[in-house]
Amino acid sequence: MSLKGASSSRMTFGASCCCSLLLLSWAFGQTSITGGDRSPCQRCDLQLSCDCSHSGFSHVPMVTDQALRLDLSFNNITTITRDDLKGLSRLVALDLHGNRLSSIHPSAFDSLWSLEELDLSDNRLTVLDPRWFSELGALQQLNLLNNPYSRLGSPLFEGLVRLRILEFGGPVLEELKTGDLKGVTQLDRLTVRANNLIRYESGALSYIWPLGQVTLSLRGPFLTNTALASAVLTDVSYPETHLTLEDFHLIGNQSAQAFRGSARKRIRKITFRNFSTSDESVVDMLEVINGVPITVLNLEEVTLTGEGRWEKASWTDHRSIDEFLIRNAVVLDVFHFTSFLQLKFLLTYPRKVSVINSQVFVMPCLTSQLLVSLQYLDLSDNLLSDLTLTESLCDQKPTLRELRVLNVSGNPLKSLSTISRQVTKLTKLTHLDISRSGFSSMPSLCSWPFTLRYLNISRAKLTTVTCCFPKTLEVLDLSNNNLKDFRVTLPLLRELYLSGNKFLRFPDGNLFPNLQTLAIQSNTLNLFGRSDLQSYRRLEKLQAGQNKFICSCDFVSFLQTLLKGGGDATLTDKEDSYRCDSPLYLQGESVSTVHLSILECHQLLFVSVSCGVALLLGSLLCVLLWRLHVFWYLKMIWAWLKAKRSSQQRQRRRNDEESEALISFDAFVSYSERDASWVENFLVPELEETNDSRSQQPLSLCLHKRDFLPGQWIMDNIMNSIERSRRTVFVLSENFVQSDWCRYELDFSHFWLFDAKGDAAILILLEPLSRDDIPKRFYKLRRLMSSNTYLKWPEEEERREEFWRSLRCALRGDD
Ligand SMILES: *[C@@H]1O[C@H](CO)[C@@H](O)[C@H](O)[C@H]1NC(C)=O
Ligand SMILES: *[C@@H]1O[C@H](CO)[C@@H](O)[C@H](O)[C@H]1NC(C)=O
Ligand SMILES: *[C@@H]1O[C@H](CO)[C@@H](O)[C@H](O)[C@H]1NC(C)=O
Ligand SMILES: *[C@@H]1O[C@H](CO)[C@@H](O)[C@H](O)[C@H]1NC(C)=O
Ligand SMILES: *[C@@H]1O[C@H](CO)[C@@H](O)[C@H](O)[C@H]1NC(C)=O
Repeated sequence: MSLKGASSSRMTFGASCCCSLLLLSWAFGQTSITGGDRSPCQRCDLQLSCDCSHSGFSHVPMVTDQALRLDLSFNNITTITRDDLKGLSRLVALDLHGNRLSSIHPSAFDSLWSLEELDLSDNRLTVLDPRWFSELGALQQLNLLNNPYSRLGSPLFEGLVRLRILEFGGPVLEELKTGDLKGVTQLDRLTVRANNLIRYESGALSYIWPLGQVTLSLRGPFLTNTALASAVLTDVSYPETHLTLEDFHLIGNQSAQAFRGSARKRIRKITFRNFSTSDESVVDMLEVINGVPITVLNLEEVTLTGEGRWEKASWTDHRSIDEFLIRNAVVLDVFHFTSFLQLKFLLTYPRKVSVINSQVFVMPCLTSQLLVSLQYLDLSDNLLSDLTLTESLCDQKPTLRELRVLNVSGNPLKSLSTISRQVTKLTKLTHLDISRSGFSSMPSLCSWPFTLRYLNISRAKLTTVTCCFPKTLEVLDLSNNNLKDFRVTLPLLRELYLSGNKFLRFPDGNLFPNLQTLAIQSNTLNLFGRSDLQSYRRLEKLQAGQNKFICSCDFVSFLQTLLKGGGDATLTDKEDSYRCDSPLYLQGESVSTVHLSILECHQLLFVSVSCGVALLLGSLLCVLLWRLHVFWYLKMIWAWLKAKRSSQQRQRRRNDEESEALISFDAFVSYSERDASWVENFLVPELEETNDSRSQQPLSLCLHKRDFLPGQWIMDNIMNSIERSRRTVFVLSENFVQSDWCRYELDFSHFWLFDAKGDAAILILLEPLSRDDIPKRFYKLRRLMSSNTYLKWPEEEERREEFWRSLRCALRGDD
């Protein structure tokens, strides 16, 4: 009974154990299923920056815990759960821009203690939760732009003491209240996108100071609620703050009034971007900022609907304006647009004017002459031609006397001699940028201002260079032309840019004794070495990547030392822009990682060393073989085979002839030459000359000395003799053991012994010889000695009679 109970309890225990195991494995299954849903992203580079953007992820993918930057932009992520980002405690930057995020768990970012940059822009967050940011004490940049929240809600940023860049707002932001930015005190950059702002509590943005840059989009307020726009602008305007207004229309007589507050706060730097305006509003604006110490006025992506008739504001004072920039301007009514002749009140003061990419085809000479303070003129990416540039620079007449920098890059200019002639009179000109033009040739001589130090003729179509260059140049950019050669002495040159040409080798460094920087990337250099760089006495920085390098040993080792900083000049471009083009098996490999073997680099040495080693090994092998008597064995096997063959042939011949005269000797005597005296003095007389007592005949012996046929091969002779003898007598002694031929005879007889004749060998021991005195390789003899009985030659005379008797007996013995 009790036994039964015990067993049943054990059973339940077993069952519950089993059950919990099942549960456990089920739980594991669950996590691994959700983990499986979270596909991994393994695109992390060596800097642990993981680019998982544009990959269609619908969940936060799994990345290594070590990741420092994680880019998840442009995926389809909708939610972030509590565990999605767990463990990424080293993460510094997280980019979730352009997903479909609508929910984020309150604790989702809790483990991101190191996070400095967080981008949640362009998502579908309707509510912002302060708990997201509660643990992000290291956060410096936060982007919440373009999410459909209508208000910020309870103070979000209170714990973010390090925050320096904050961007928020979106299409439906309606309300900004005083407490909303509580805790945000000091920013480098603030961006607020509030095109549909309806309610603004005055002062909501006024606690942020110092404030480096502020960018506002207030389209709606500008159109319908100027007071609100004005309140916002006033709150963020400070003399040191660069104010940028985006995406609005400055149209009608009201909108400019919004700037009154800013004007009062003596704002200095204003950028208007992506806006349209009319003459009327420009005049209004000029009146509003009359006397305000604005130094920088930038107008970008501007659409002008008027005709440039702003002279109504000519009474206003704008002498503080120092920098004036128009970029990407579109003038709708180009044909009625006036020259700026009436704008003397605006044009006489600026030192820096840029009109970039605005389809300017001429700046009339009269306008140029108004720009008396101008030091910097940038007219890049316009439509100036040789002719209109001549007009703009007033041809022979003096103009722009203070000009230091002229940038006419990206204009359809064709004649280098025209431009050189035109700029010669700009006696203070130091920088001339005529890049991205259509120059295809160079006059052999040009005139230049004596002050010119910087010349940029990159991206033209030059095929050769002449002495046209001014000797005063310090920086010369000729990249992206079709040059093959450069042979002009420029004694003051510090920087030379020759990338994107067709140079096969470095230009001679003696031409530029002061050169410090040389860029010669993307040419057709095959290799370069110490000697190429030696002529550059002052070179500090070199960029020579993206060439078609032949990875020879010298080049690879030279470049690797350079890359490691072991040269006079440092390579300032990326290490992996140096790639091998040939040999074929190294094509595309980074030179820094190439390892050429000794074989490739020291062929001669390698060949001689390996020959030496092979020779040594060969002789060692020979010595070894000789020590092991392998040659001897081979010789013997060969002889044996040959002898056997001829023996077979003889056999066959005999069979054919059916001759009976096979056995012609009683015994073949095998002995060493040194034992010849014994054989001749004892054995032969005893056996051949003494008649046997029993049989009348003396025995006939075969001795190689006597009976071998002259002229026959010795092997054949031996074989033949053994075959023709009934027995073989071996006269064993030290001497015998040392003789190869005796050995052979022994071998052969042994083979004969077993092949045909049975007990055919007779051993005579001339001197005491134990089995161990016989070398191991005479294993047959050793065996014979241990198996056969042998006759010992007695020292004492009286016992010899018995010896002879035994020998005779053995020789005559029954077959
Ligand atoms: C996101 O999902 C939608 C449909 O669910 C699909 O059309 C779109 O291509 C996906 N986007 C990416 C980047 O995979
Ligand atoms: C420029 O502003 C208009 C509205 O005035 C807006 O629709 C457009 O998206 C803006 N363009 C850019 C590049 O921001
Ligand atoms: C603004 O223009 C309207 C008509 O367009 C005019 O009635 C109004 O007086 C103007 N206001 C100012 C301040 O110029
Ligand atoms: C000239 O303008 C081009 C294009 O705007 C710019 O890339 C270049 O740096 C400018 N050159 C100088 C000397 O400022
Ligand atoms: C020369 O002009 C090109 C194109 O405008 C520009 O990219 C390059 O940086 C300039 N070179 C130098 C040395 O400033």
